[in-house]
Amino acid sequence: MISTAGLSLFLRQTIGAFHSTGAVCPSSPFLARAMVAPLRERAGGRRLRVLEAGPGTGVFSRQILAHLRRGDELDMVELNPRFAQWLREWTDGLDKRGPEARVHEQDILRFQSDARYDAVICGLPFNNFSPALVDSIFQRFADLTRPGADIVFFQYLGIRRLKGAFVGREERERLREVGRVIDGWIAKHGRGVERVWLNVPPAGAFRLKK
Ligand SMILES: C[S@@+](CC[C@H](N)C(=O)[O-])C[C@H]1O[C@@H](n2cnc3c(N)ncnc32)[C@H](O)[C@@H]1O
Repeated sequence: MISTAGLSLFLRQTIGAFHSTGAVCPSSPFLARAMVAPLRERAGGRRLRVLEAGPGTGVFSRQILAHLRRGDELDMVELNPRFAQWLREWTDGLDKRGPEARVHEQDILRFQSDARYDAVICGLPFNNFSPALVDSIFQRFADLTRPGADIVFFQYLGIRRLKGAFVGREERERLREVGRVIDGWIAKHGRGVERVWLNVPPAGAFRLKK
């Protein structure tokens, strides 16, 4: 459960950095649970490496870590320095005998790693990005993962159509094109969606398989 301080930080970033934050409040624990579904299916004793893009105040990160064990690794890549600082303070206090959790204050597109991840959990606000950027981010996820890896991202249900009704032609076309790019990745790699009504606004956790 997120603290009052976490909620207050998130709301300040929603106002001060809306383009990159792209949400009015942190995701609910119900959406977080849907986002980590692939981690519940782990088989055997193999170590897991998980990449999280756009952790914010760590709603998904907490659920991810709850499914990891000693020897597993979580890399959190967060662009906003305030969120990154928040996450560092939180991870500094974690039990060092548990899984390793690292915070990278960076743009996900610039993030480099020798690791090939088993799963990507993505909290990025795609609707605020250009279609070309959205496509590059999915391509980056594909490059950073091993074959068979899961990539999970969320979209607010019906939000592009709703927003489209209140914006100009150019913005409507951008939103449409973002939708086409995402649908293209879903058409090639989609493995289903879990709809979560207990979230503000309701959202779908979409799963892709590399
Ligand atoms: C919609 S918020 C989601 C936060 C959290 N995962 C949640 O669901 O409550 C989007 C997050 O993505 C981060 N972000 C946006 N663009 C990014 C980028 N290019 N690279 C890394 N993080 C980014 C924002 O700073 C913010 O923390």
